[in-house]
Parts: sequence; C-alpha cells; structure tokens
Amino acid sequence: MQVILRQVNDVIIRRAEPSDLIPVMEINLKTLPEHYSDYFYESLLAEIPEAFIVAEVNGKHVGYVMCKTEYGFSNFKRLGFVKKGHVVSIAVLEEFRKKGIGKALVEESINGVKLKKCDEFYLEVRCSNTEAVRLYEKLGFVIKQQLNAYYRDGEDAYLMAIEFEK
Ligand code: ACO
Ligand code: ZN
Repeated sequence: MQVILRQVNDVIIRRAEPSDLIPVMEINLKTLPEHYSDYFYESLLAEIPEAFIVAEVNGKHVGYVMCKTEYGFSNFKRLGFVKKGHVVSIAVLEEFRKKGIGKALVEESINGVKLKKCDEFYLEVRCSNTEAVRLYEKLGFVIKQQLNAYYRDGEDAYLMAIEFEK
C-alpha cells in the first residue's frame, strides 16, 4: 500500500516501495558520484522504510532520500551512546530543484528516523556543496566536524548533525 506523506501541487512525497528502487538508482547515477550496490538499496528499504522516501511529479521519479540507523557515540553528548539516524544519500533531479522538494524530503526523513526512536540524525556532505549545506542548516543541522579526505577524490566532508528533543 502506498504511503503518501504529503502532496503539494503536482509533487507527491511518499515512502518508497521495492518498485521504486530502479528509478532511485537512476536518479543517483545522474546526480551524485557516490553509487551503491542494488543490495544496499534493498537493505536500506528493508531496514527503515519510514525514512526511504521518493518525490514524484506526474508519475516521474524526481528525488529520493534514503537513511539507515546506527548505534554509536553521540555527536552532541560527550561519551554518550545513542541511536542515530544517518542520511545515506539524497538527491533531486536538476530540472526539479529549488522548488522545496529537497526540504520536504529531509523533513520527512526526520519524521521517519524519529519514528524509529533515534536520538540524533547526521550526514556527511562535501564542503563545496553549499546548496546542500544551506538546506541542512535551515532544517536545524549544524556542522560538527570536518572529515579530512572523506571522498574518493580527496575532498573533505562536513559531518552535520541534529539532536532531537526527548
Ligand atoms: N522558488 C524559488 N526558490 C525556492 C523555492 C521556490 N518555490 N523553493 C525552495 N527554493 C530554494 C530554497 O530556499 C533553497 O534556497 P537557498 O539554498 O538559497 O536557501 C533552494 O531552493 C534549495 O531548496 P530545495 O528546493 O528544498 O532543495 P532542492 O529540491 O533544490 O534539493 C539538493 C537540494 C537535494 C541538495 C539538490 O541540490 C541536489 O540534488 N543536489 C545534487 C545531489 C546532492 O548534492 N545531494 C546531497 C549530497 S549530501 C548527502 O547525500 C548526505
Ligand atoms: Zn554517510
């Protein structure tokens, strides 16, 4: 059964289903240099469908966000051990950017990881990706660390995180 999270004009934001994975992989190939195996997409959808979300416009897939959960040291509390949501990847097709789709995807993924009782949510983003960094900042993420040569091409990443209220 399709779970529609929100609809604004012709944009539908909904939870992904197995049949969405190929279109999601196609968007990933077009928009980002970091790619994953089919199995990885399937495993994220199985693990946390609440935060594997797609955007559709007139039946065409135009964006996605996919996440996982982890237990580990807090990005906020010294020595705290917490459950963390992790944005693995998010993208919107270039022709559909600057319409609020990216923001809607991140907001719905926040709701999704909260449903999984995560204490925090984090991600890595290229330091040069000002568009994405600004989007995350607007939604409450803060830069917690700079990860040296995080990407294959040697670029640094910012680790950005948000802490949820109890
Ligand atoms: N009219 C004009 N501008 C608008 C409108 C509108 N109706 N709605 C939103 N905007 C503006 C926003 O204010 C924002 O502007 P700002 O950056 O100046 O504040 C800008 O458009 C982007 O916001 P959204 O529209 O919500 O985001 P978008 O759909 O463009 O997606 C994203 C952002 C996902 C980062 C996109 O640029 C993208 O896919 N980039 C390539 C892939 C990528 O870099 N992904 C992130 C990698 S990091 C990771 O995956 C963890
Ligand atoms: Zn990551």
